[in-house]
Amino acid sequence: MEKPYILHMFTTEKNLSPFDVNMALDAGWTSAIPYLQVEASEIQGLVQDAIFSRGPAGVKRTGIFIGGRDAKLAADMVRTAQKSMVPPFEVSVFADPSGAFTTAAAMVAVVEHELETKFHTDLKGKKVLALGGTGPVGQIAATLAAKAGAEVRIIGRQLEKAQAIAHLCDSEFGEGQTQILGDADANKGELILDADVVFATAAAGIEVLSAELVAKAPLLKVAADVNAVPPSGISGLNAHHRGNPIEGSLSGAVGVGALAIGNIKYKTQSALLARMRETDRPVYLSFDDAFELARTFAKKL
Ligand SMILES: NC(=O)c1ccc[n+]([C@@H]2O[C@H](COP(=O)([O-])OP(=O)(O)OC[C@H]3O[C@@H](n4cnc5c(N)ncnc54)[C@H](OP(=O)(O)O)[C@@H]3O)[C@@H](O)[C@H]2O)c1
Repeated sequence: MEKPYILHMFTTEKNLSPFDVNMALDAGWTSAIPYLQVEASEIQGLVQDAIFSRGPAGVKRTGIFIGGRDAKLAADMVRTAQKSMVPPFEVSVFADPSGAFTTAAAMVAVVEHELETKFHTDLKGKKVLALGGTGPVGQIAATLAAKAGAEVRIIGRQLEKAQAIAHLCDSEFGEGQTQILGDADANKGELILDADVVFATAAAGIEVLSAELVAKAPLLKVAADVNAVPPSGISGLNAHHRGNPIEGSLSGAVGVGALAIGNIKYKTQSALLARMRETDRPVYLSFDDAFELARTFAKKL
């Protein structure tokens, strides 16, 4: 009998995301087994328990998915998982905490695509505001944009929290090379004056860029909102925007809404889950891999 494809799915939370379970099974995994409230100190034991029982043929049909809500913790868990492998007993690992790695990758990829197709430019040197950017999606979107050459500020309600998160993104995800800064919501009125790009990545249903600020943004080119729950995160932009003009923008900015981003996110996550299953050699997949793939899907938007 052929061995089934078994995906061991770790989360630090009380529940595994049903979204991720559906995605895994739809991508061809036979079983998606949840491990709940997993602590970082348990990763080595769980990984080694998973790799030794199936022989070399079975190892190829075994994978580990790391979810949860915390991007840094997930990245730490991937590193621990990799160190815990005992080749040839080694399996692929993919982290996508809170869907943040694939969602952020999709958002930055579609923004880049709009910059290229509508403004004949790219992210290099562009001023990017990640509004509500202190959560996992904002952290990774900020990091990917900064790694693509943008000057990024993560904006939150509290200055100190935003600065701490910006430092975390730079040191943890950006190898200390990104110069991401943190700033406060209270300064948005000033920061919007030279912003080229805006990401809205706050919790669902919260407007982070008002009509007044949209009208006040003379250089704004592209804005993207990941939030699918009304009201939208950016005034004048809704979930169906796919490079359409943002209502009230005097600079001719275009918007990308949650459905276009979600479409690329879905394809990216699905392809990464399939890659883990199809690969001959174990792979460790993170937001950089997601971004590379999302860029190819965004070109076909
Ligand atoms: N389209 C898709 O495929 C997709 C996939 C996954 C997630 N999402 C969406 O992506 C967004 C971000 O997800 P996430 O998990 O990173 O978000 P999150 O951690 O829940 O929230 C992000 C930030 O929002 C701010 N915030 C929370 N409550 C607020 C309030 N009442 N007023 C103003 N700001 C508030 C907080 O920043 P401060 O405390 O620093 O202000 C928080 O750090 C959500 O809207 C989620 O629904 C979309």
